[in-house]
Amino acid sequence: MGVAMYETKTELFKVMYSCRAMRRLRPDPVPEEVLLGLVEAATQAPSTGNGQNWRFVIVRDRDVIARMAEPWRRGNAFLTETAMAMPARPGEDIDQRRRTLRAATYLAQHLTEVPALICVCVRHDPLAEKAARSRATFRAGLRHLGLWRMVRLAFRARANTEQELWATAYPAVQNLLLAARAMELGAALTMPLVLAPKGTYEKILGIPRGTLLAAVIPVGYPQGRFGPVTRRPVETFVSWDRYREPALS
Ligand SMILES: Cc1cc2nc3c(=O)[nH]c(=O)nc-3n(C[C@H](O)[C@H](O)[C@H](O)COP(=O)(O)O)c2cc1C
Repeated sequence: MGVAMYETKTELFKVMYSCRAMRRLRPDPVPEEVLLGLVEAATQAPSTGNGQNWRFVIVRDRDVIARMAEPWRRGNAFLTETAMAMPARPGEDIDQRRRTLRAATYLAQHLTEVPALICVCVRHDPLAEKAARSRATFRAGLRHLGLWRMVRLAFRARANTEQELWATAYPAVQNLLLAARAMELGAALTMPLVLAPKGTYEKILGIPRGTLLAAVIPVGYPQGRFGPVTRRPVETFVSWDRYREPALS
């Protein structure tokens, strides 16, 4: 089914089915209007309450990238070692994993040559937060949800807000990746942040407190060629009507 979709459907499907993580990028600069075009495509994504609280830091300054490259390399070395030690998942092609890790290591070692890093941030919405803490919200909660539910919501408020920020980031990230692929640019979703001490990249980039740095997307013209992504057959992801673990092979 997947292959048929890839071959017969519209341009969007072709782009989607060949939107591989491209980590080997040429150093040639990417024009500013092209970078802005990618961000514009990202902002066509949905966001909670259409808050559009994204911020995109497009980094081209070599010094800034060099400062990011140091913790990036260390995080990547850790990730590569631990990922190589992990046993294969059912049906996993271990060579594929090795290739991915080699490409990630290449990116880490050549980060300073990447023409641009697009850092995707999401800002806390101060208005929504104020509204969430207001008496009116509490009264409405009592009426519609009941006291217990409201108390539990209040306790979970911070975690819920955090979840919303992450959830707002990723539709935009995926739009950006698809737009890059459509424009024959290489890009990859990366999250180096989780492997560095808290706040490392935020400090380098000057990201204020309360603003989440969700992803860093290196962008450039690819060294290699695009090709179809490798994914399991759709049946191995699906169960009908109730949750059941599908057979993996
Ligand atoms: C949440 C998330 C975090 C990721 N973090 C990284 C990362 O830090 N570095 C990286 O090189 N790729 C990262 N990736 C990309 C995945 O490795 C990639 O999508 C996966 O290996 C499949 O490869 P393909 O998209 O080329 O088919 C991440 C992907 C996701 C969804």
